[in-house]
Formats: sequence, structure tokens, C-alpha cells
Amino acid sequence: MKNEKWLTDDHRIVNTKIQEVLDFMDKGFMDTDKFSDVERSLKKHIYFEETILFPALDRGDLRTHQMIEGLKMEHAALWKLMDVINKEIEEEKFVKSKKSLSEMFLILKTHNENEEGNIYNKIVENSDVDMVNIESLQFPGDFICEKLRNRRIGK
Ligand SMILES: [Fe+2]
Ligand SMILES: [Fe+2]
Repeated sequence: MKNEKWLTDDHRIVNTKIQEVLDFMDKGFMDTDKFSDVERSLKKHIYFEETILFPALDRGDLRTHQMIEGLKMEHAALWKLMDVINKEIEEEKFVKSKKSLSEMFLILKTHNENEEGNIYNKIVENSDVDMVNIESLQFPGDFICEKLRNRRIGK
């Protein structure tokens, strides 16, 4: 139950941080530190889901497999939107950042509901996942989400 709660709490925390960046953008400013904070949290969350949680739960049931594939595609969409924002931060030219962040917020709304209603409840049935201490989990800086990783290699 510990991991399930951490993940659900993390959804709320990330959403709140995104909302704060959006509110700041409404005033015409980009809070790059807060955005980096969003990015760090979200990437670590995706890392845990794709490397530990999903492999432990994706074991033979077709419906679960298809759902996880869809969730991974949404991770890739979120990742690409963060890339767009990072590029604009680098160039200090903000054209698409607000739209991209709003899009992230929208994707996360259904993505998180889907995970909380259909995936995280399976953690309770799976003792392997519940033993992982994700609070102390280290995020490797070179990790790229699965659906983009395969495309990027060699380019
Ligand atoms: Fe996710
Ligand atoms: Fe999640």
C-alpha cells in the first residue's frame, strides 16, 4: 500500500506544481526553477512506473498489457512536451511553452485517473512492487521513456 499512496500523492504534487508554473505564465513569466522541479519529479515518477511497476504488472493479461502500452505512449507525449519547453528555456524564446504545459496538464488528468483506477490498485495484489522503497529510488539522468528511447538510438 505504501507505493500506491506515494504514487497517488505524487500525482497531486506534480499537478499542483504545474498549476503554479501556469499561474506564473499567466502573469507573463516563466518560472524555470519550478519547471525543472516538475520535470525532475515527473521523470522520476515515469522511471519508476516503466522500469519497476509496469514490468511487474504486465504479465499475460491482454487488457492490462494494452492499458500499459497506452500509458507508455502518454509518457512519451509528456516527455516530448517537456523537450519543447526545455528547448524554449534554452533559447529564452517562449512561444509554445504555455500551450505545451497546458497540454501536459490535460494529458495528466486522464492519465493519472486511469493509473489510479486501473493500475495502482493491482500493486496491493503484487507484493514484489510493494517492497520497493521508491522514496530513496535514484533517477538515472540518462533515462529516456521507453517509447522514445527506441526511436532516438542511432540518430
Ligand atoms: Fe504514468
Ligand atoms: Fe503515475
